Amino acid sequence: GLPARVRIHEVGPRDGLQNEKRTVPTEVKADFIRRLADAGLTTIEATSFVHPKWVPQLADAEQLFPLVGELPVELPVLVPNERGLDRALALGARRIAVFASATESFAKANLNRTVDEALAMFEPVVARAKAQKVHVRGYLSMCFGDPWEGPVPVQQVVRVCKALMDMGCDELSLGDTIGVATPGHVQALLSQLNEEGVPTGAIGVHFHDTYGQALANTLAALQHGVTTVDASAGGLGGCPYAKSATGNLATEDLVWMLQGLGVDTGVDLGRLTATSVWMAAHLDRPSPSRTVRALSHK
Ligand code: HMG
Ligand code: MG
Repeated sequence: GLPARVRIHEVGPRDGLQNEKRTVPTEVKADFIRRLADAGLTTIEATSFVHPKWVPQLADAEQLFPLVGELPVELPVLVPNERGLDRALALGARRIAVFASATESFAKANLNRTVDEALAMFEPVVARAKAQKVHVRGYLSMCFGDPWEGPVPVQQVVRVCKALMDMGCDELSLGDTIGVATPGHVQALLSQLNEEGVPTGAIGVHFHDTYGQALANTLAALQHGVTTVDASAGGLGGCPYAKSATGNLATEDLVWMLQGLGVDTGVDLGRLTATSVWMAAHLDRPSPSRTVRALSHK
């Protein structure tokens, strides 16, 4: 069976924009987030408190967060280390996400650390966040394949998932950073996680759509009982530190499928599509989402 309701974790303002070469003005980002909230999204990943040289597009986190902080939605932010946590807490962030890697190559490229050094870096971040009752998401990248290492063994992924849970993360997000997963692989990983004590209720999925598999992978996860799905308005996105990473699953494509299946999301597809069309005009490039294109050409 399928869940009655799915919580969409909207990552457009963070994962969607982080890879944009041209700087998007802070006020446009704030409008983007306001419009997403207005379209019914309730969890909107707003920005990252990372080193500004590593992700220049999100260097305005201090200016952006106060512009949207009062919206009646959850606004998680990425935080790699204690410096990032300090910055986020100073602005009143109530939800943070640390981001680990299942592979050594990506841990090095994205965090300048080994897998275990990165986990050690997150440990005090998670402990301090939990002590302040701040919700913590633990991302795990390269859960299926890695551009440098190829297919990633399930057991290697499970080890890091368990480390993140043991650290105190409230939820996990399984990242298919380069979009190579297929539905059988998704089900195999979810089953192995359950077998090793990670409950489905703590697991979200984060599919990039490079090979056009994101929606099929999402359906496989829903059939397994997953109810938290990451998506990016208009299919924006990619990771600057992962070769061959394209955009996330488009939120519109996800909502279209879920509406057809009778699964509630609370999202107004018309408003959301209008937002992505508006954003595409700012970025001077059409949205890659098939649903956005179909609905905006009607
Ligand atoms: P590092 O160079 O090893 O940093 O980078 P360090 O710890 O050696 O510190 C060097 C300097 O940076 C110090 O300053 C720090 O204070 C400063 P100095 O003392 O030399 O003047 N610094 C900071 N400044 C501001 N904010 C901070 C911060 N931290 C240190 N938070 C570091 C290590 C983790 C900082 C760096 O690698 C980094 O920022 N990485 C972020 C990369 C990133 O954001 N990637 C994209 C997000 S992950 C993703 O997209 C995948 C996901 O979508 C899931 C999926 O699809 O798989 C989540
Ligand atoms: Mg991502």
